[in-house]
Amino acid sequence: MLMKPDEYPANAAPGPDASALARRFPGDFVWGVATSAYQVEGAAHEDGRGDSIWDDFCRRPGATKDGSSGERACDHYHRVGEDVGLIADLGVNAYRFSIAWPRVQPLGAGAWNEKGFEFYDRLIDGLLERSIAPYLTLYHWDLPQALQEGGGWVNRDTVARFADYAAEVARRFGGRAASIATHNEPWVVAILGHQAGIFAPGLKSQKSAMQVAHHLLLSHGVALQALRAQHCTAPLGIVLNQAPIHAATDSPQDLARARLDDGLTIRWYMDALLRGGYPEDVLAYLGEDAPQVEPGDMEAIWQPLDFLGINYYTRNLSGTGVPLDPVKSGKEVTDMGWEVYPGGLTELLLRLRADYCLPALYITENGAAYQDRVVRGRVVDSDRIRYLHSHIAALADALESGVDVRGYFVWSLLDNFEWADGYAKRFGLVHVDYATQRRTPKDSAHWYRAFCLRARTSGGAGSSAANGARP
Ligand code: FCB
Repeated sequence: MLMKPDEYPANAAPGPDASALARRFPGDFVWGVATSAYQVEGAAHEDGRGDSIWDDFCRRPGATKDGSSGERACDHYHRVGEDVGLIADLGVNAYRFSIAWPRVQPLGAGAWNEKGFEFYDRLIDGLLERSIAPYLTLYHWDLPQALQEGGGWVNRDTVARFADYAAEVARRFGGRAASIATHNEPWVVAILGHQAGIFAPGLKSQKSAMQVAHHLLLSHGVALQALRAQHCTAPLGIVLNQAPIHAATDSPQDLARARLDDGLTIRWYMDALLRGGYPEDVLAYLGEDAPQVEPGDMEAIWQPLDFLGINYYTRNLSGTGVPLDPVKSGKEVTDMGWEVYPGGLTELLLRLRADYCLPALYITENGAAYQDRVVRGRVVDSDRIRYLHSHIAALADALESGVDVRGYFVWSLLDNFEWADGYAKRFGLVHVDYATQRRTPKDSAHWYRAFCLRARTSGGAGSSAANGARP
């Protein structure tokens, strides 16, 4: 039973006023928080879980800044009851999480691990008991290491393995999940994992990276076909990281580079998913590094989407000169060094609507890292509250311009393992002391709770636009 907003103590909602902002959203808008399996679960070698490419990658000296891994993380695997309680206390009505493929199918093929499925059963049932909708992601970067040893996403066979895994998860959870997303941020997997080599599996080849980008998209399409063939009732989609790409200067070189980067990060994925083809300018740029595409692949990728998830953190500046340092140029940045640029969210959403025939959208991640400290039991993170307030306001601007967005998820519920940055970067609404695993809701958690409860009880009268648009 939710408390009414006016029953909250006056100090429960520090920072900018939540009420006026809450009224800008329809009453049925989805408000949530997000995590991913490898970043929070820990228990990396318990109950039959197999190694993932991140377990392997983290063992390499220098792979993560603090030499850490997700071995223990937030110990969420053992504290799932407490963590579901924390989610409920936030006043949200949705939780986005991912399934660790190697936990439910340790070798990425063959036998299923019942103990792994039981963990997600407990999580999903715990959420449903609290009226929190489970938004499930199938792949948030933790490929079973056994598949990597056969070539991983560079090998076309992994596409079929993923579709089998997707079908099994949907068979078990499809009736209880509020939605199923195939992939989280395929650009990151392809480029940071296979071209820049800074994320697992740590390869450095543009050709491999673009083949991976193609196989990830293909596996999305083939999985959607498999799930629909077995009459999965959960809405199906995919999550992309997107940022407006601005040219660093007005020089023709910088403008051209920005257009290309837009092609490599946004249009490559959006054109394939929503138009059934890759952008010509990007294919021309890639030349011999363009992926091998077999007949029928683009049709397989171009499946109807029930929704599209967008992860938004900042804008990107592109140019041919020395990369601009946002701090030196006086811009406000988060602890990741990412510029705080809320207007980019509105700009991005309006642009996507202008360029594509979109399904319903969700902001599946948005949030900020800051150097948070617990002082006398409290974490004063006014900068995060300002970040969230300004981005939710930017989202309201997009809604008021008619973009069909249905929900918003803060990244993240908890401070957690931030990939190559290890545990140094704290994105949580809830602080985690990794030595004791003690959880302390930050001021931003209190603010978000007050905001969500107002939005859910006194939000605008309308319901989300339902234009039913399908590709
Ligand atoms: C996104 C990832 C998520 C987290 C945030 C900060 O790219 O999806 O796991 O690392 O960035």
